Amino acid sequence: MREAGVNLVSVGIFSWSRLEPAEGNFEFGWLDRVLDLLHKGGVDADLATATASPPPWLSHRHPEMLPVLADGVTLWPGSRQHYCPSSPVYRSAAARLVEALATHYADHPSLNMWHVGNEYGCHVPACWCDVSAQAFRDWLLHRYGSIDGLNEAWGTDFWSQRYSSWEEILPPRRTPTWPNPSQQLDFMRFSSDALLECYEVERGVLKRVTPEVPITTNFMGFFKPLDYWKWAAREDVVSHDSYPDPADERSGMRAAMAGDLMRSLGQGRPWILMEQTTHRVNWRDVNVAKAPGQMRLWSFQAVARGADGVMFFQWRQARAGAEKHHSAMVPHGPVETSPTWSDVVTLGRELARLEAVCGSRSTADVAVLFDWESWWALELPSKPSNRVRMMEQVEAYYAALFEANVLVDFAHPGDDLSGYRLLLMPNLYLVGDGAAAAVGRAVESGATLLMSFFSGIVDPAEHIRLGGYPQPFRALLGLDVVDFHPLSAGEDVALQFADGAQGRGEIWSEDIRLNGAEVLATFSGSHLDGRPAITRHRAGNGTAIYLATQPDPKTMARLLEMACASASVEASADAPSGVEAVRRTAGGKSFLFLLNHREVAVDVPISTAGVNLADGSSVHPGLVHLGSRGVAVIREGW
Ligand code: GAL
Repeated sequence: MREAGVNLVSVGIFSWSRLEPAEGNFEFGWLDRVLDLLHKGGVDADLATATASPPPWLSHRHPEMLPVLADGVTLWPGSRQHYCPSSPVYRSAAARLVEALATHYADHPSLNMWHVGNEYGCHVPACWCDVSAQAFRDWLLHRYGSIDGLNEAWGTDFWSQRYSSWEEILPPRRTPTWPNPSQQLDFMRFSSDALLECYEVERGVLKRVTPEVPITTNFMGFFKPLDYWKWAAREDVVSHDSYPDPADERSGMRAAMAGDLMRSLGQGRPWILMEQTTHRVNWRDVNVAKAPGQMRLWSFQAVARGADGVMFFQWRQARAGAEKHHSAMVPHGPVETSPTWSDVVTLGRELARLEAVCGSRSTADVAVLFDWESWWALELPSKPSNRVRMMEQVEAYYAALFEANVLVDFAHPGDDLSGYRLLLMPNLYLVGDGAAAAVGRAVESGATLLMSFFSGIVDPAEHIRLGGYPQPFRALLGLDVVDFHPLSAGEDVALQFADGAQGRGEIWSEDIRLNGAEVLATFSGSHLDGRPAITRHRAGNGTAIYLATQPDPKTMARLLEMACASASVEASADAPSGVEAVRRTAGGKSFLFLLNHREVAVDVPISTAGVNLADGSSVHPGLVHLGSRGVAVIREGW
C-alpha cells in the first residue's frame, strides 16, 4: 500500500458474519490487527459499519426480515443486501453491531471516517412484504394525517379505489393493470425514506459515540431509487462509486456528469471517488477492460469534477466468491509484471502531487434542474409517450455542454437559484408550487432558462395542473400548449429556424399557441407544419426558451451556444474536441485540468504560464501537449 501511495482504505464492508459470528458475540481481534497494521503503515481507515450483508444466523432466526418483491417472491440469503429496509429486526441488529464497533474503535488512531452500509438500495431498493406494508401505512399517516387526505391525494374515486381504513392500504403489489400512480409515487418516496432511516439509525449511533468522525455512505451516481438530495444533506462527505463502461463511447461524458452531481449534492464541497475498478468489472455480460491510460484519465477526471480522494474497489483480487473476476489494485498474478499494478503505483505517485488542489472548488454559472420525485413520476407508465426518459433528456443537454467545456451544476428546482445565469430544465414533469415560483423568480431577475416539453404537468400528488399546459410556466414562457403529439420510434420531424438553419426533432412534438413568445423555429412538414417548435420569451430581466421537441444533437449544441452567449456563460478553456477542461479554484489559486479523452495526442492552447502538477513540468502560454488519454493539471499563474 505504501508503494502505491495508499493513505485511506475502506475496511470491513462485508464483515458482519466475522465481526458477530453469533448473536451478541463480537470478535474484533482480527480487525484490531488489520487496523493496527494500517496505522503503523501510515494508512487511515474508512471503517465500514458492515451492515450491508447480514449474517446467515440473523435471517435464519428471523426470516421475516427478508425482502419480498411486488409479486410476492422472497429474496433469500446467499448473496448480499438481503434485508427488508423497514425490518425492525434488521435495524436493531444493525444498530447493535454499530454500537459495538463504534465503542470499540472510537479511539483507534487509524479511524478517519465511517462508511455506513454500502451502496444503499443497490440490489434491494424497495420491499413489498407485510412489514413494509405496515411501515408504508405509518409513513402515509404521517404524510396525510387522515384517510380522507390520502383518498384525495391518490384520486381514489378513479377505478373504485376509495379506502375506508388504513389496513386496506398496501404497497403497489402486482396488480391486473397499472396500480394507482400517486400510490406508486408515494411508495417510491417511502422506499427512499425507509433506506434513509436505516442509514439514520446507524448515523445516530455514530454521532453519539464518535461525534468528531465524519460519516459517508457511497452513492451510485444517478441512482433512480434514492433521492440523493435528501441523503446528501445527512452526510459529512459525499462519496461515489463510478463504473463507466469502457465499451461505451459516452462513458467519459457520463462519468463527468455523475462527478458534477456529486459536487452539487455536497453543495460544492469536495467529494471522494470511493470505488472504481482498476481494469475490468465482472458484472456486465462482457466486461471490457479499460484502455491504456483510461483508469488514470478517469481518476483525474474525478478530481477535476471536485473529488479530493480517489479510491478503488478492491485492494486485492479475491480468490473465491462472486467477485473473483473483478479487477483489483493487487491482481491475481505477480505484481512485478502487472501493468495494472504499475498503473496503480504511478497514479498514487501522481495524485500525491495534487495536494494543493485539495479543498479547492469550482464555480458553475449553469445549473441543470434535477429532481428525483419528478424523475419517478415521469417514468411511471401510462403517459402520452413512454419514450420520454429522464436520463436521456438530461444527457441531451449535458453532452453538448460537456463537449463545449461549460461547467454545469445540478440543482434542486426549489433551491436558491440566484447564483446561476443559465438554468436548464431537461424535463420537470412534476413540480411543486414553491419550485415553480423559484424558477420564475430566477428568470425574472435575469437568468436565461431553457426548458423542454412535458414540464410542469403535474403537482406533487401526480395530479394534472389544470389551467392549460404547462400551467405553472405559461406566463413565463409566453405560450400555451394545446396538446401533445408524441413521435414514435424512428419518426422525426423537421425544424425550420427563422435564420434559415434546419434541424430535426425526435420523441415529441406539440401544438403551441403563442401568448407573447417569439418563434425561433417552427415544425416543418408534419401536420404541425408552420407551428412553433422552439420559442423565446422575455420575462422580467430574463429570458425563457422553450423546446417543444427534442432537437438533434447539433441543433441542441447550437441552442445551448446561443443560450450561453445570451447569459454570458463562458467555457472553462478553449480546448479542441475530445479534450475536457475544468477549473478548480481556492482563494487566489487556480488549477486547470485538461483531459484528453482521445487515443491520439493533441495540443491544447493555453494563455497562462504555470506548472503541470501531474508531472512537475513548467508550462508557458502557447500549446500544452497531451499524449493519448493524457492529462495535465496546470497550477495557473502563481
Ligand atoms: C459495488 C460494490 C462493491 C463491488 C463493486 C463491484 O457495487 O459496492 O462491493 O461489488 O460494486 O464493481
